[in-house]
Amino acid sequence: MGLYPYADRYQVTRSFPQQGRPRADVLAEIEAMATLEDSPYHEGKISGSIYSGDEEHYQFLNEVFGHYSHANVLQRDMYPSATRFEGEIIAMTADMLHAPAADAGGPFGVLTSGGTESLMNPLLVYREWGRERGITQPNVVMPVTAHPAFDKGAHYFGIELRKAEVTDQFVADMGSVRSLVDENTVALVGSAGTYPHGLIDPIAALSDLAVERGINLHVDGCLGGFILAWGQDLGLAVPTFDFRLPGVTSISADTHKYGFGLKGSSVLLYRTAELRRLQYFIVPDWPGGLYTSPGMSGSRSGGIIAAAWAAMVTLGRDGYLAIAGDIFRTAAALRAVIEAQPELRVLGDPFFNVAFTTTEESGLDVFLVNDALASRRWRLNGLQRPAAVHFCVTRPNTQDGVVEQFAADLADAVAFAREHTGTAAKSGAFYAGGVTREQIESGMAWWLDATQALPPASA
Ligand SMILES: Cc1ncc(COP(=O)(O)O)c(C=O)c1O
Repeated sequence: MGLYPYADRYQVTRSFPQQGRPRADVLAEIEAMATLEDSPYHEGKISGSIYSGDEEHYQFLNEVFGHYSHANVLQRDMYPSATRFEGEIIAMTADMLHAPAADAGGPFGVLTSGGTESLMNPLLVYREWGRERGITQPNVVMPVTAHPAFDKGAHYFGIELRKAEVTDQFVADMGSVRSLVDENTVALVGSAGTYPHGLIDPIAALSDLAVERGINLHVDGCLGGFILAWGQDLGLAVPTFDFRLPGVTSISADTHKYGFGLKGSSVLLYRTAELRRLQYFIVPDWPGGLYTSPGMSGSRSGGIIAAAWAAMVTLGRDGYLAIAGDIFRTAAALRAVIEAQPELRVLGDPFFNVAFTTTEESGLDVFLVNDALASRRWRLNGLQRPAAVHFCVTRPNTQDGVVEQFAADLADAVAFAREHTGTAAKSGAFYAGGVTREQIESGMAWWLDATQALPPASA
């Protein structure tokens, strides 16, 4: 499917319509587009992106959402239920991640709009934490594999980001991290797991370093928090990455990924009330009244919060454990399938998100392998430095037959890459998009600015 295939099919709206259209027409159009666009994930061929894929679960969440879609959580007096949902989501996530218990005055968390906000907020907090200690030129040290939302936050908030190397196992190299820390370092970052390779940085060692230096440590569990948290209960050797480690001062975990909520929610937890307070923003003397807000957003939808809460309380621990078990088993099976190809190599020791590349001896281009998989409707994610692709396993991938189909298609894809050695691959490394190199090179304006994709009025 192209990136704007609708110009020929539907009327292109370039200016505000004078008269509204009948709801039934609009709904029919929406239904047609949504059904078409969702069809590949039902086949279990999509990496990441669709985390639950349980249609009944989505229907239920949509019903919940509908009750509060119009509600603005800023109006806490009007919607005390949202306060209940928010408090309980934070409490459940804190329990899952072993945050300081209620008897210690906790938990101390906030709900955000997603992973990016859950990574930017702690940067702001640690900058402020540094300021209180006389640090005016703060820096944060993170491995190169940490998510670009940290780059974004550092850019927005005037923080120097220092990037540490990773080991040959693609997790933070502690020697490199240590060498970058100085008296202006306010925080370290580690991921559980990383977006590129799904791996868990040495959080215990980062925690020790944070304690030794008296600085903060944010663990990015945006992607992995709600899945890796169940690993130990399921008997997997998932290293501890949460508040049980004394140096961990904040953790983010996205309810809109493996938390199985709707898009637009994430939990950010702090170890102490003091840290969370640094995130609050208050303007006492505004003519509009006393302005207080816990984070970046202003108005927030009650529907998203209610849906995240409803997902958690209907699935319960048992529900999450069962799905996590299926995902871990599928990921292990996919890993075995990849490792069975002598031309391919898995990066590190992943639990749920399996990245692989081609071996040096094979001389194959991993993006040619990916091209062949893409032609059979597999949508994996392209990586760089090194060139690789990952398969982030979600619930739709755990269906019967998916691993077997992947095994067959992967063998053919390796053969395709061998036959086409020397030709340029169509796919490449582009975050969040299954776009081709040609599309990337043809000008990216439409990627950032959707109006650029509209056909010109004269066309
Ligand atoms: C490890 C990690 N951190 C943060 C994010 C950002 O999350 P969001 O896309 O919800 O902003 C992602 C997204 O995939 C991620 O994988």
